[in-house]
Amino acid sequence: MPNDALSVLDNRTGKTYELPIVDGAVRATDLGKIRTGPHDPGLLAYDPAFMNTASTRSAITFIDGDAGILRYRGYPIEQLAEQCTFLEVAYLLIHGELPRAAEYHDWRWQITHHTWVHENVKKFMDGFHHDAHPMSMLISSLAALATFYPDARENRDPGHRTLQMYRLIAKVPTLAAFAYRHLRGQPYVYPDNDLTYAGNFLSMLFKTTEVKYGPPTALERALDVLFILHADHEQNCSTNAVRAVGSSGVDPYSAVAAGAAALYGPLHGGANEAVLRMLRAIGSAGRVPEFIRKVKAGETKLMGFGHRVYKNHDPRARIIKRMADAVFAATKPSLLLPVALELERIALADDYFVQRKLYPNVDFYSGLIYEAMGLPVEMFPVLFAIPRTAGWLAQWQEMVGDPEQKIARPRQIYTGPAWRDVPPRESRR
Ligand code: CMC
Repeated sequence: MPNDALSVLDNRTGKTYELPIVDGAVRATDLGKIRTGPHDPGLLAYDPAFMNTASTRSAITFIDGDAGILRYRGYPIEQLAEQCTFLEVAYLLIHGELPRAAEYHDWRWQITHHTWVHENVKKFMDGFHHDAHPMSMLISSLAALATFYPDARENRDPGHRTLQMYRLIAKVPTLAAFAYRHLRGQPYVYPDNDLTYAGNFLSMLFKTTEVKYGPPTALERALDVLFILHADHEQNCSTNAVRAVGSSGVDPYSAVAAGAAALYGPLHGGANEAVLRMLRAIGSAGRVPEFIRKVKAGETKLMGFGHRVYKNHDPRARIIKRMADAVFAATKPSLLLPVALELERIALADDYFVQRKLYPNVDFYSGLIYEAMGLPVEMFPVLFAIPRTAGWLAQWQEMVGDPEQKIARPRQIYTGPAWRDVPPRESRR
């Protein structure tokens, strides 16, 4: 009997099967070979929400949720956040290695010189309602970029793929900032190629009458670190959306727009917005115990707590919490910080949260930092989408080049009625 195999006895037929185990996984298609007879389509693996199904092999991001470990291409997130810029990390995700000086120079040049968008982008941005949610504007304008680059459908050509990746990573801050300026009723600010990736984004958000905007150093670095922390997170909901949509062979703008749409949800990238709204609704540290009571009674959720994979701590949350102090020193102290600290203190000592392994996640403190930077809550998921674009593209590129991947198409267990005749109209209920 091979050691690296799973022996399965099908009690329905008395037959045994040997399913090879490779990298700790059995292939669901091997289960399909287990049949009761020639008309049996074969055994399915039933796994709503992919709780225990690997959809791909990936060399990009490693997470050990129980140990609170996150690594991009093998490098611990703590070291990347400390020693790298976001653009170096974006290069790492896409190319697999940190760039050497000449590679970084070229990469930075390419990203910087693709930041401008076609003037028509301003026209459709103007068409959105005055209070349109900026994330909806971003999703729509990401998809609309495909209309400017019909060559983006040439997915099989690596040169074309690289060009679209430059464009997307470069232009997503421009679209995000335009959405913000539209929300504020302010004129759009064009990219400033002298500034860093984060600095240019701050300029496009906040520049007013000054000839040259100088981003505050503490905010520029904090934003860059937040971008690093959000850049990738293996097969999360939005990345899965990018891979699934991209598997149809569609252009990367459409696939990334699908990822952004998935990220918009309050259980995913919309959580930091939900955290801020929750903190405001609680209002003061004294009202935290009453709120915790409601959470435990199942009346509401403690937003920014819990994670599908981190069951010990979210390493990103620790880095953000440390960085928050530097930001609050450069801005004004957050009035909601005492509420957040009290929530964390009470929740971490409470059996309900301890037993369910619920800890602060990346979104618990990031919203407070964005608020201190002067951004409205509607912009929070947008700020998540900017760096995640690099991760989505790294995953999309890996998927396109993976010979094992095909169009994503899950199976189902049909639970509807069996065959029946269509009744005449007059006798229908
Ligand atoms: N507040 C209160 N109870 C919770 C929470 C929470 N935030 N999260 C999970 N639980 C409870 C849940 O009710 C369940 O309890 P029980 O066993 O009694 O039914 C138990 O914990 C397990 O939860 P689950 O819903 O099965 O866990 P999940 O892995 O499906 O959900 C999650 C993960 C992130 C969707 C969930 O924890 C959640 O909704 N958290 C709040 C939203 C949030 O902060 N999302 C941001 C995630 S980090 C950013 C990202 O990577 O997308």
